Amino acid sequence: MGVSKCLRGVSRCLKMSHVAAPRGPSRVIEWDVLSTRYPRMAPLPWSMLTERTGIDLFCGLGGFSFAMQLAGVRPVLGVDSWPDASEAYSRNFPGAKAVCADLFDAEFQEKLAADYEGKVDIVCGGPPCQPFSVLNRTNRVGSEGPLVFFRVALAIRPSLILMEEVSDVARHAGLMDGIRQMAEERGYSVDWAVLNAADHGVAQARRRLFVAAYPYGFSAPALFDMPKAVDRVPLSRVLPPPDESQEVTTYAAEMIRDRRSYSWHNGYNELDESGQAPALTTQFNQPGCWPSRRLGARYYHVSDADAAAIQSLPRDVKLPEKRMARRRALGNAVPPKMAAAVLRYLLKRELIGR
Ligand SMILES: C[S@@+](CC[C@H](N)C(=O)[O-])C[C@H]1O[C@@H](n2cnc3c(N)ncnc32)[C@H](O)[C@@H]1O
Repeated sequence: MGVSKCLRGVSRCLKMSHVAAPRGPSRVIEWDVLSTRYPRMAPLPWSMLTERTGIDLFCGLGGFSFAMQLAGVRPVLGVDSWPDASEAYSRNFPGAKAVCADLFDAEFQEKLAADYEGKVDIVCGGPPCQPFSVLNRTNRVGSEGPLVFFRVALAIRPSLILMEEVSDVARHAGLMDGIRQMAEERGYSVDWAVLNAADHGVAQARRRLFVAAYPYGFSAPALFDMPKAVDRVPLSRVLPPPDESQEVTTYAAEMIRDRRSYSWHNGYNELDESGQAPALTTQFNQPGCWPSRRLGARYYHVSDADAAAIQSLPRDVKLPEKRMARRRALGNAVPPKMAAAVLRYLLKRELIGR
């Protein structure tokens, strides 16, 4: 390791000792996320110099925070304006601060930057994606989410910024240019790629845009070159047994059996458990909107536990109390296993389970 890199690590250690972020019990990772096999990559030990900390903006129930834990980063703060998600986040991450606030609010943005500037290593986030979703062809209200995310993240000045969005955002050249320009003005370089969760150990074909930014002078591998996991994980390996109390109606079962699909988005269809699920949506337990599970001759709604497994969330993930809120939080989440693979790759950590 070069002397300058070593000194940088030491100075980072010293700087981190002033972090005012709350400390909490370290969590035991209970689910089988570290078993993904990647092609061999050179281990780079500099990541062991200091404990890293991170912030999760637009955190929902905390998909990115689970990913940070898997990548050896301690989440210290999760912000979301939706009370149900914020409450679930606080139960999932008792050692982090859960703040329920509007990230579009300029005053709150300033306060956040004042409190955390220079004090955390990583800022992650998945700004609202509905304005860009392929399911939404008309309403583009709120499409400034990615810009707001970058404005706040850049003001905090971390060593790595990572945003997740629906893949369509990559086609909005104006928006992507806006992000690049804003980042470059603050001394950050930007890189992005559309990745598929199925290539990173998740039993779901979910294509998502990842945009990374780091201060000039930091080198990180290109997202585009990120290696894929050696194997794909079939649904049968992650799904719990079907919840038999959730049998679908006779009518829906007939529709599925007859393959009378009225919906272009996988509705009245059956999950093929030997492969990967299609991208989970917030409507996952409606046979007309998303596939159902088959057991023998019967069909079952996809349960919350199924959806959590499809998203590679831990088995003991804490969900919002209300039924509709649970579905929305599950459908919105970034798959932690995928985001952890991206973080580990960008942080150049040795990949586990080769
Ligand atoms: C795509 S989801 C992010 C999901 C999250 N990454 C996860 O893994 O669960 C977008 C989140 O942004 C939140 N949100 C929307 N508008 C917001 C705002 N103005 N301020 C803060 N959070 C907001 C939503 O409540 C939602 O939880």
